[in-house]
Parts: sequence; structure tokens; C-alpha cells
Amino acid sequence: MEFKEKILVLDFGSQYTQLIARRVRENRVYSEILPFNVSLDRIKAFRPRGIILSGGPSRVTAKDAPIPDKGVYDLGVPILGICYGMQLMAHSLGGSVARAVKREYGRAELKIDDFSDLFKGLASKKSNVVWMSHGDRIEKSPRGFVRIAHTGNSPTAAMTEKKKKFYALQFHPEVVHTEHGRKILRNFVFNICKCKPRWTMKSFVESTTSEIKARVGKDKVVCAISGGVDSSVTAVLMHKAIGKKLTCIFVDNGVLRKNEAEQVQRMLKRIFHMNLVCVDASERFLKKLKGVTDPEKKRKIIGNEFIHIFQEEAKKIKGAKYLAQGTLYPDVIESTSFKGPSATIKSHHNVGGLLKNMHLRLIEPLRELFKDEVRVLGKEMGMSDEVIYRHPFPGPGLAIRIIDAVTRKRADILREADAIVLDEIKNSGLYNEIWQAFAVLLPIKTVGVMGDERTYENVVAIRAVTSVDGMTADWARIPYDVLGIISNRIINEVEGVNRVVYDISSKPPGTIEWE
Ligand code: XMP
Repeated sequence: MEFKEKILVLDFGSQYTQLIARRVRENRVYSEILPFNVSLDRIKAFRPRGIILSGGPSRVTAKDAPIPDKGVYDLGVPILGICYGMQLMAHSLGGSVARAVKREYGRAELKIDDFSDLFKGLASKKSNVVWMSHGDRIEKSPRGFVRIAHTGNSPTAAMTEKKKKFYALQFHPEVVHTEHGRKILRNFVFNICKCKPRWTMKSFVESTTSEIKARVGKDKVVCAISGGVDSSVTAVLMHKAIGKKLTCIFVDNGVLRKNEAEQVQRMLKRIFHMNLVCVDASERFLKKLKGVTDPEKKRKIIGNEFIHIFQEEAKKIKGAKYLAQGTLYPDVIESTSFKGPSATIKSHHNVGGLLKNMHLRLIEPLRELFKDEVRVLGKEMGMSDEVIYRHPFPGPGLAIRIIDAVTRKRADILREADAIVLDEIKNSGLYNEIWQAFAVLLPIKTVGVMGDERTYENVVAIRAVTSVDGMTADWARIPYDVLGIISNRIINEVEGVNRVVYDISSKPPGTIEWE
């Protein structure tokens, strides 16, 4: 996307690198992350207004330390080094770095010596709380650099070479624990790099749609719709750019949530008037899944069958040259990270074959966005909160929540129970506080009594977790009353269930899904 005012973040492997880019974008200035070892030409082509050197786990004096092209210091653009980035600047520009006598992790009190630019507007009280995480420290600043802040343990906790607009911080301004971190980054982006806050979702929509339009020309595009946020927003954005030249394909695999197919149709067809092909392939999937109990096998079967069906349908669309996909920025970064051959992106597994067999080219219009930005984009384009704030749903659907073999009957039981869980979570106003809430159908039967009859029926487990990114999660403290209503409704309304239990395990050691 062509924005004039951009900040480049060079990644040296810090766990906070993504956070730096997000903080810059929160200020409506576009920011991208590139691995530290990209060529100088690539950096020049990016035309950054400023460069931020991220932190990282290495020691700058180590033999295999990540070192960028030295030419970055001659581009005439402001540079901000953070933690490892600071040590790197010191090391590369003629200063020296050594092991600190006392390593500094966590909270530290920063004493500011110069409030004129990077620390402008920070409260001039005695000290500011900052977050440190380093074992090395600056022993000697490079020539021309002066210290602008210190801590008890780091005589040079921040330094600058004002003429060149080089700045360096030993602490992490991007983390929330650094009291005025946001303000410091704002000072760098606005006052030092002279960027203006112009990167808005409106401008993103305008530039992305005109770019897509130019790229696609008279050709056609296909897009697989799962019902989730990423594919839906991709479809709406593509449609905005190329209208009827886009065809969306939605496959009902027999293990979707209740009313899923209808909801997708309503949104894409009735609200956005898109070309939509809905394929009811439930019979095909259920046949393939017959008797399969191993979750990994279920995942593979569903993935492969989906590819087959999608391919069959896409082939019917004459002139289709492109496949649109909702790949997000974290996946892109993961795949280009310098930390080594990273895990192949999940979603790419699915489309690799399609691209090759069908000679389709990939369009990934969300590849520069974080998840929360995708939501803002969806809202900007008039999508409903119901779609934008949807809980995640696994590709293999209810098949991995039916423990043991999948049958249509068991899928129906789980679908009904799951719908009640979601319904009551929404009624209680908890939906947006919870990362995911769903029902699981267990492979055991228990004795119960209904009316005067003894029953011997299924057990449904309820899983509801809070999480920020799905990597770790805690079980949601849903009020007993709400759990009571859910349990009552499931046992009364879903034939075949006579017991409901609540899963109170966190992740780790558990996972969110049961299989
Ligand atoms: P776990 O169970 O590993 O799940 O704690 C973490 C998150 O990933 C989702 N998930 C999947 N998503 N295909 C997907 O697209 C899958 O096969 C899959 N398995 C788990 C899960 O719902 C949770 O949000």
C-alpha cells in the first residue's frame, strides 16, 4: 500500500516487535516490520520517514549477533534504537557495550536529563517508571552522542545524536508498563520523523481497492468464505474493489454451527449483493468422516475434502485467475521472521495445491493488518458487529468437538447444544468479554431421570475461556445463574442430552478445543 509517511521497524527478534508496529499504527502512521537483514535497497524502496531498531535476545558482541546493513545509518532518516537496538547503535557507531554488573529486568526508575525532544512533555517529576529487560549496557556512547536519561543501574539509559536524529533507549517504550512509553513513541514519530496521522481505515480502503482494481483488471477472483471475520472482511473489501468479478464460495461441511450457512448467505447476498456459491457438501464430508475417531485424521479429511470441493466449484467460474485470502500480518511476519524457517502458515497449507493446480494467483488484501485493525476495517465498510466480533471457530468445525466418531445425529445434538450456549452467553452480555464459548459432545452416556423415566443419554461439556490471542487462556468465571440457565435449557431442549458439565481447565496445560 502506498503511504508516504511510514515508519520501518527492523526486527532483531524481540517478543515485542509487533507491539512497536502496533503502537505506531495506533497513532495513524503506517508501520511495517522487516527482518534486520533485508537489503539496503529494500529499505530504500520502502522510503521510511523513520526507522526503529527493535530489541532482541542476542548480545551485540556475540559472533553471530544480528547486524543490519551499515548503510541504514547513512540514509538521512531518524533512527530509534530500543534495547538491543540501542546496543547495536552503540556498537556499530563507535561506542562500547559490556555486560552490566547487575542485569536489569522489569521495573526501573528513569531519570530524564533532557526534556527537549524525545522526552518532551513528560512529567518532569523526579523519575518515570520504565520497563527494562537487558543484561548488557552502554559503557561508552559513540562520538557525538549525549546521554538524555539514566537509571540507577544504567548510566546511559537513553542517548541521542541530535544532528543526525539518532535516538536510543535501553528500556521498552512499547510495553504498557513503561509509564509514558506511548508519549515517547509519539514524540519520535510526530516531532522527530515529522509524520502526520493520515493512516486511517478510510484511506486504507481507498488505496487498497484502487490497487486491487488495477491488479485484477478484467479477470475474475474466487474467495473461500468460512463465516469467520478474516474471510468475510476480505470478501467485502474485494467486492468493494471489483464487484461482480468476485465470486465467493461457501462450503457446508456438515459440521458447521447452527444457522451458519443462512447467516453467511444473508450477509453476503442480501446485504452486500455478492456472487455467492453455497455448496451443501455435508453428505460428502460425513461419509468420509464415518467411523473416524482420531482428531488429526478428522482434520486432514476435512481439509482435503474442502480443497477438492473448492477446486470443483472454482473451475466452474470461467476466467478466474486469482484467489483472495484473508492472511493477516502476524502470519506474514511469522513467515518472514529471521528466527529461522518458521512454521508454515496454517491457511497456506490449504491453498498451496489450489494455486498450483488451477494456476491461480494469490491476493491477500489484509496481509498488512492486525486482527483488531481488520475489525475496524470491517466496521468502516459497514459490516455488523455480529460478524466482526464473532468468536473464532476452528476450520474442522464441530467434528473436533464431537469426541469419537462423527455422525449426522451427533452433529445435530451438538449443534443444538452449542446454539443454546451462544444464545445464553449473548443474553447475559458476556459474549464480547469471552474469547470463545462452545459445547463439546462427550463419548460417554450417563444415567438420569426425566419425568418418571430412567434415561441413559449423552453428556455435554461447556467450554468458555478468556484470552487475548488464543495462545494462553483461562476458564471464564461465568456466573452460576447463567451456567444454570444453559444447563437447564440444553437438558430440556436437546433430545439426547441428560447431563451438562463445565470445563474449568486453563491453557496451558489444557487446550481450548478438546481434541
Ligand atoms: P487450541 O485448542 O489449540 O486452540 O487451544 C487455539 C485456537 O485455535 C483454534 N483452532 C483451530 N482453528 N483450525 C483452525 O482454523 C484448526 O484446526 C483449529 N484447531 C484449533 C481454536 O478454536 C482456538 O481459538
